[in-house]
Amino acid sequence: MHVGILTGGGDCPGLNAVIRAVTLALINEAGARVTGIHRGFLGLLTRESRRLDPDAVVGILSQGGTILGTHNRCDPFHYFGANGADASGQALAYARELGLDALVVIGGDGTMAIAHGFHKLGLPVVGVPKTIDNDLCHTDRSFGFDSAVAVVAEALDRLETTARSHGRVMIAETMGRYAGWIALEGGMAGAADIILLPEQPFQLEAVAQRCREREGREGHTLICIAEGAKPVGGSLTVAATIADSPDPLRLGGVGALLQHQLQPLIQSEIRATLLGHVQRGGSPTPFDRVLATRFGWHAAQLVRRGDFGRMVTLSGSEISSVRIEDVANKNRPVPNDHSLLLAARGLGISLGA
Ligand code: F6P
Repeated sequence: MHVGILTGGGDCPGLNAVIRAVTLALINEAGARVTGIHRGFLGLLTRESRRLDPDAVVGILSQGGTILGTHNRCDPFHYFGANGADASGQALAYARELGLDALVVIGGDGTMAIAHGFHKLGLPVVGVPKTIDNDLCHTDRSFGFDSAVAVVAEALDRLETTARSHGRVMIAETMGRYAGWIALEGGMAGAADIILLPEQPFQLEAVAQRCREREGREGHTLICIAEGAKPVGGSLTVAATIADSPDPLRLGGVGALLQHQLQPLIQSEIRATLLGHVQRGGSPTPFDRVLATRFGWHAAQLVRRGDFGRMVTLSGSEISSVRIEDVANKNRPVPNDHSLLLAARGLGISLGA
């Protein structure tokens, strides 16, 4: 059996842990040959790959990034951009030339959509859910999320001491695209006083009111805002538009915008920090190392059983799988009745309403 493996979309802590688990499990348990495709689906077009053996994955469990490289703009079905040419035949030809019996695809909802496309063309695929955003459907967690939350929590801890010293309002802007999972869990872990999510448009005056109350009591305020958050009736804050990307919008800057709009309404000085790609880099947390390893091993078992067209999932504490087409190009927002939201409200944390 010859199995390919690739990492698609943005990078994320834990990718190497999955590569290691898939490689070792397939070699040890199935005597398979494993080939890593470079730079996501782009490597199928540029014909860049390399053999993965146990030596190739030594020492990578704790490494951030991906030893295979990745690409978050290359969709061979639309090469490059929504109106781009269909180069999937060329990619498929390279997979056939390599003699791949299966392809393990590690990525988010966009990568799963591409994987589903290749599955329909007859290339057997298995998916592994990756994204710091935690916004993939049908899995309670994607690996990488816990590592991003740890960065946000540490950042808020650090911002709190300087906020308290100066009696300031500190705003930390998180990633997360259109979902508020990172801001919600990071904000809760870092004891934010105000948490603003894409799913709950905020009232500027409600945010100002909470800051003013705290000016008179605690003297400082910590705000954790997701990059996709927006005021009631407002729009997304877009940092850049990347025309040839499957998802052209890059969000960013809502924290600085909030600083600008909030400042005239309160006494304290405000500073905004954009956490950015710091949340995606570096070593995975122990939780993500273990989750990525479990996902990788289960992906190898799906390959061994010939159970293709499926993505591994975490449901409670159990690893399971769903059809890739059920997660492709879909998004999982924070539900309004999520228990952590209820807890936040119960603890008196403002959600900007
Ligand atoms: O999907 C992961 C993510 O980090 C988002 O949270 C963020 O909006 C986006 O990717 C950033 O993409 P890029 O690396 O292209 O700037």
